[in-house]
Amino acid sequence: MPSPIQPAIPSKAPRTRYQAKRVSLPGVVRVPLAKHELERFRFRSSNPLRAAWQEENRGRSDGWDEMFERYAAEADGDAEQSRVKGPASKDSRSGLRTSAASVHVLPRKPDLSSSASGASAVASHYNARPDAGLDARRDSPILPLRQFNNWVKSTIITKFGARNGRVLDLGAGKGGDLRKWHAKHVQEVVLVDIAAQSIEQAKARYDERKQTYHAEFFAFDAFGSAVSEHIPASILEPLFDNVSLQFCMHYAWDKVSKVNLMLENVAKYLKPGGIFIGTIPDADRLRRDLKALPNDELSFGNEYFRVSFDPTAPQKKETCPAFGHKYTFWLKDAIDECDEYVVDFEQFESLANQMGLRLIYRKTFEEVWLEVGEQRDSEAHRLLGAMRIPHPSTCSIPMQPALWEAASLYLAFAFEKAPTPAFG
Ligand SMILES: C[S@@+](CC[C@H](N)C(=O)[O-])C[C@H]1O[C@@H](n2cnc3c(N)ncnc32)[C@H](O)[C@@H]1O
Repeated sequence: MPSPIQPAIPSKAPRTRYQAKRVSLPGVVRVPLAKHELERFRFRSSNPLRAAWQEENRGRSDGWDEMFERYAAEADGDAEQSRVKGPASKDSRSGLRTSAASVHVLPRKPDLSSSASGASAVASHYNARPDAGLDARRDSPILPLRQFNNWVKSTIITKFGARNGRVLDLGAGKGGDLRKWHAKHVQEVVLVDIAAQSIEQAKARYDERKQTYHAEFFAFDAFGSAVSEHIPASILEPLFDNVSLQFCMHYAWDKVSKVNLMLENVAKYLKPGGIFIGTIPDADRLRRDLKALPNDELSFGNEYFRVSFDPTAPQKKETCPAFGHKYTFWLKDAIDECDEYVVDFEQFESLANQMGLRLIYRKTFEEVWLEVGEQRDSEAHRLLGAMRIPHPSTCSIPMQPALWEAASLYLAFAFEKAPTPAFG
């Protein structure tokens, strides 16, 4: 198939004779480029003038991750770390892998269960949303919400991430946390996502910025299958210092067997004393807003987001089951009516306890923001300023009310793995 972009004709190339009757062949008709394609091609350019522009522009527009990185480097008193370095070299002490990162998209036998079809619908949804590029992200109508979410993730990564550690990032998406782990000076990150195209984009993002740590990328269902089926044992050892599930665990919550499999994927590969962190919608808030709806209404939201509970199971409005309490979620410019499930936190904590994980942190995003506002000497407090999140002492909410309604739907958590492993 011909490329939509034709190479520029070099100035010394022989000129084609003018042919008045020439007609374009079908298939060479040029289709206008979409905004995200333009962005991609611009960043692929090898033109030195454009490369210079790209460097300059990147520095200006790269947003919160850059700020976080600079902030973390200052906090360490290590200005060198704020510069982008080449790929990690071999660490003889830890023996960690240093080869070029690779993407593993493994073929799987088709699983026709309804749970598996739900997972593949999630994969299709995220695959259909390519990374729109920096400019589009900056122009997003939900930019303050994205920025705030990144600040919360940065805050918990700063607080619980292990310096020089190994990280397993399940539901890693397009690699939105790559720079946050870089700023934490980790040694290695293993990224997994069910959406193969997202994980390819995460790899491209990693390659583009040449992180200082080694990374491996895998595309498979991390909530419907054991990680050991897909990731070689050599990569699962030594055990991870952190396992991170950001904005994704709620996709696992349709039945208890799936939740147990997901939690086993977390607990089994976390080292004793290691920390499991994540962000999920707050079940208390979802249920409170659902129950406050008049009569048989099952949907709430505003111009930025909408939560619509399953109309085929209206009785769940009263019973609020611990598993399989389905709703579809729409978030402007981000999520198009994707099926999610309420994560019953008491069940979550109880199942996690059975796997040797002890809850050490649970805060709604609002609580994270208010608490950090009071901790004047904390790293997260400085990060608030560095990432330009409004301070709780100057305003009651960090963004306009309708957007804050969506941002404040979430909570952050951390569990520590018991020093004596529950798995042999
Ligand atoms: C809202 S995105 C969050 C991405 C990333 N963690 C972040 O914070 O930027 C949710 C991600 O979870 C992934 N996901 C959902 N179900 C999954 C599953 N069963 N296994 C692996 N990834 C899954 C989706 O493909 C999507 O990339």
